[in-house]
Amino acid sequence: MIHRPHIEFLQSQLLPWRRIGPGLARPDAEYKLLSRDPGDGACSALMRYAPGWSREGPEHLLAAEEFYVLDGALYMDDHVYPADSYAYLPAGWTRNSMAAPDGCVLLAFYDAEPTLVAGIGTIAESDRDRAIPHIDAAGMPWDTTLNDEKLKHLGISRKNLRTDPVTGERTFLSLIFPQSAPTGNKGPQEMHPVVEEAYIIAGSLTGPQGTMYPGAYFWRPPGIAHGPFGARWGAVSLIRFVGGRHVNQWTKEEAPFSFDTAYQPILPPDLQHLAQAHWLPPSAY
Ligand SMILES: [Fe+2]
Repeated sequence: MIHRPHIEFLQSQLLPWRRIGPGLARPDAEYKLLSRDPGDGACSALMRYAPGWSREGPEHLLAAEEFYVLDGALYMDDHVYPADSYAYLPAGWTRNSMAAPDGCVLLAFYDAEPTLVAGIGTIAESDRDRAIPHIDAAGMPWDTTLNDEKLKHLGISRKNLRTDPVTGERTFLSLIFPQSAPTGNKGPQEMHPVVEEAYIIAGSLTGPQGTMYPGAYFWRPPGIAHGPFGARWGAVSLIRFVGGRHVNQWTKEEAPFSFDTAYQPILPPDLQHLAQAHWLPPSAY
């Protein structure tokens, strides 16, 4: 089920770190909740493991866990996941040991409430092909082929991390060229029949809701027109299309673009207090 409110966008720097608590994945770590489905508990979060953090299993989760390491390194069983590592571990995947000797911050995505269960788990037959134990994203080449003529002004390149073999859902890194903006500062808007979710890792990306900096996050439900976008000095984002295969649909009308667009987010009631406080990166001058 996909019933999360439209969030577009928030700077996660403004969210508090919280203690996870018993019964959920990593009860002794900290998290910032980015979005959550109140129906089934599926959620997206930043997670932080303090230096020296460790857990001994075996244990498993009743949800698929997808993660991308942003900082530090996570040790899990036979794998070391330094920054820019990715994995997709289906529900029931057994972790025997986990540790973060020097600390770790990662993005985590769960397709149901991440309930923690002690002991060895069982992976459903239908989930076995979905497992991606480890991808070194930094070592992958960028796919620079143009896949939509209307996005040519952004020069978008990709590193595909996951395409679900059944649903077509995708997770990928997106790279947008510096000094890219729609010709004439206007252009059509795009829509998708599925959820688009993104976290800005580097650079900045400007659209109708203002300029997103590293740490910016959005969850956009299906069928919402968005853009046009531009990136003054480029942008690297982790993007997920959730709920099915992604296609671009374009509006006939054109919408304006400006790098000077003020922060005017779409936020649910419990996050409205963030609408007044646009986080800006520290000045370099
Ligand atoms: Fe989009």
